[in-house]
Amino acid sequence: MSILAIENHGNIAVVTVDNPPVNALSHALREALWNAAERLDADSGVEAVVLHCAGRTFIAGADVSEFSKPPMPPHLPDLVTRIEQAKKPWVAAIHGSALGGGLEVAMGCRFRVAVKSASLGLPEVTLGIVPGASGTVRTPRLVGLANAVEMVTIGKPVKAPKALEIGLIDAVVGDDLVAEAISFAQKALGQPLPLPISGRPVEKLGEAEWQKLEADVKKRAKGEVAPVRALACLRKASESDFVSAMAFERETFLELRGSEQAAALRAVFFAERAAPRPARYKDVETRAIHSAAVIGGGTMGAGIAATLRDAGLPVILIERDEEALARGLANIKGIFDGGVKRGKLTEEAAADRMAGVTGSTSYDSLGDVDLVIEAVFEEIGVKRDVFARLGKVCREDAILATNTSYLDPRLIVEGLPNPSRFIGLHFFSPANIMRLLEIVPTPESAKETIATGFALARQLGKMPVEAGICEGFIGNRILKRYRAAAEALVRQGVAIADVDAAMRRFGFAMGPFEAQDLGGLDIAFLQREGARAAGQDVPETLGDILVRAGRKGQKTSGGWYDYVPGNRTPQPSPAVAELLAPHIQGSSSMTLDEISEHLVSEMAAEGEAILAEGIAQQASDIDLVEIHGYGFPRWRGGPMHWKAHVKK
Ligand code: 3HC
Ligand code: NAI
Repeated sequence: MSILAIENHGNIAVVTVDNPPVNALSHALREALWNAAERLDADSGVEAVVLHCAGRTFIAGADVSEFSKPPMPPHLPDLVTRIEQAKKPWVAAIHGSALGGGLEVAMGCRFRVAVKSASLGLPEVTLGIVPGASGTVRTPRLVGLANAVEMVTIGKPVKAPKALEIGLIDAVVGDDLVAEAISFAQKALGQPLPLPISGRPVEKLGEAEWQKLEADVKKRAKGEVAPVRALACLRKASESDFVSAMAFERETFLELRGSEQAAALRAVFFAERAAPRPARYKDVETRAIHSAAVIGGGTMGAGIAATLRDAGLPVILIERDEEALARGLANIKGIFDGGVKRGKLTEEAAADRMAGVTGSTSYDSLGDVDLVIEAVFEEIGVKRDVFARLGKVCREDAILATNTSYLDPRLIVEGLPNPSRFIGLHFFSPANIMRLLEIVPTPESAKETIATGFALARQLGKMPVEAGICEGFIGNRILKRYRAAAEALVRQGVAIADVDAAMRRFGFAMGPFEAQDLGGLDIAFLQREGARAAGQDVPETLGDILVRAGRKGQKTSGGWYDYVPGNRTPQPSPAVAELLAPHIQGSSSMTLDEISEHLVSEMAAEGEAILAEGIAQQASDIDLVEIHGYGFPRWRGGPMHWKAHVKK
């Protein structure tokens, strides 16, 4: 089928767009829609037009892959206006997603109907741009300023029922979408037409109200430019006429489209879409995972069990004794109860999730599970023992995985029968929330096992990245370098608080020292001590000095900072200054920008070593690890993107 087809159903023409995969508004599609509008205007037998799309979705937006090319006519804003000015009313029939330019086209239509599962939104700010085809000008005219501010500056889509409630669509219809839209159009023809959206009035706000909105958006944006500029477009839409507001929006759109932030966010957008389906495993068969077991119900095991249950898999939890099992089950229940408290889960859903978890202290029930994920103590002996037992009871084709952070997976499974079904699946804490999943094959892992790891990630809604074997894999290895570089700055006389402030200013939610205080300094300390005990030469860190003085972080009311009980705000600590004084040489006076530039360069340098050693497959994988596992600001694109495209 061609990109667009027109079929007449009596006096209603049905325009079907077919531009896989997501009906994005490429140049060819814009031209085809323009020509359709011309042709249908001239067709005297047609009284109304239904616009719908083939495939999985309505128009999902402008074609992002064309953003680095010069814009070609017909431009999208003109196309939207052309549809609005058509001689016959158009009805957008929406399924899947109507996003960005897709929603803008729908707002050019006189009516919008959608199936219940459809999503509608203006996610442009998540790509570092503003809507560029009247999203900031028509939306406030359609749904009011308050709703428009939310849609345009946050970019989160709404589902059809909510869209109906705020007036974004005219009806939620049944799943026989085209038939329902035709019948909607027939009924509409018998009544006076509503005004086109461009002709409707728009709300005005006072100066103080705009200032408050600007302050709110700026605070939430944390350095991102697009949300602030999107609000400026909405203000222009409210305070000037339609044509001037459109010109202002277009100018802002074109300026931001070429910006550093938009380039970074686009790179992340494409990397995120490519990562779950690596081309190298495209033709590899995967094993279906219908049931799973988790060994160890501590912090990680409970989170992993919860994430498996969230994806609908029945889970068996194995613990070492009855007491630990009761604790593990309570940990899992605590996660679901937390979901209820935060309004994310209903009581029934939480009960259903918990009902799908079976606890046991025996491995006997593991004979038929498809997948086992081990999350016991980080001790090689304990883990080897677990896998030796799994090797005896599990099916030969069951996938066996370890969640180890630092141990060598090859040693964990030495002697395991059929080691080709073994793999590292490194989740991040809290495992039910963090999206990153490092997939760590051993040289013996079968391609089928690795591909199944990726398929599992998709099933769980995680962002998978393949990592080779080295200490800390990709993420923790970069973290170690980052922390060491931050400590080195402190040794040169940079204030601890300046390092944290610099990284916050760069876009992290927290700096490296605040983050250690939150997570606890003792975990990394124990790991270093373990390595020292094993005879490795691990130099003394400043963190070691603090832990030896009893300062393990917030839980001991002091780490790199002091804390007043019940208050998580870090206070510079005279005790830390005294403890570290003998180790500080110099009085460095770096600016905050110099500090962040240095630390991100260090991350990128470690990333380059990781790439050179083949531990990561591509630079964008390292960026995804940092963004989804370590809070690297998305709009900076990750350390590798930053180093390649931004750093002067
Ligand atoms: N442009 C170009 N390609 C796009 C695209 C777009 N807007 N949206 C998705 N794709 C591509 C993806 O890269 C992927 O390609 P691949 O198969 O070669 O890897 C393919 O379409 C499928 O995408 P997903 O894997 O994401 O498919 P899902 O079914 O999981 O999700 C979706 C579908 C919800 C539509 C999701 O793709 C999405 O959110 N897309 C982005 C929507 C968006 O941001 N639109 C606004 C664009 S900016 C704009 O419109 C500006 C305007 O105001 C002028
Ligand atoms: P934890 O100490 O909270 O939990 C470990 C659990 O394993 C305990 O409940 C313990 O009773 C159980 N256990 C110990 N031996 C067992 C055995 N033989 N059989 C069954 N259960 C047994 O530890 P945590 O933090 O959950 O870590 C688990 C694993 O996950 C470790 O390998 C760790 O390196 C890794 N990891 C930890 C992360 C974190 O942030 N805590 C992040 C990513 C990985």
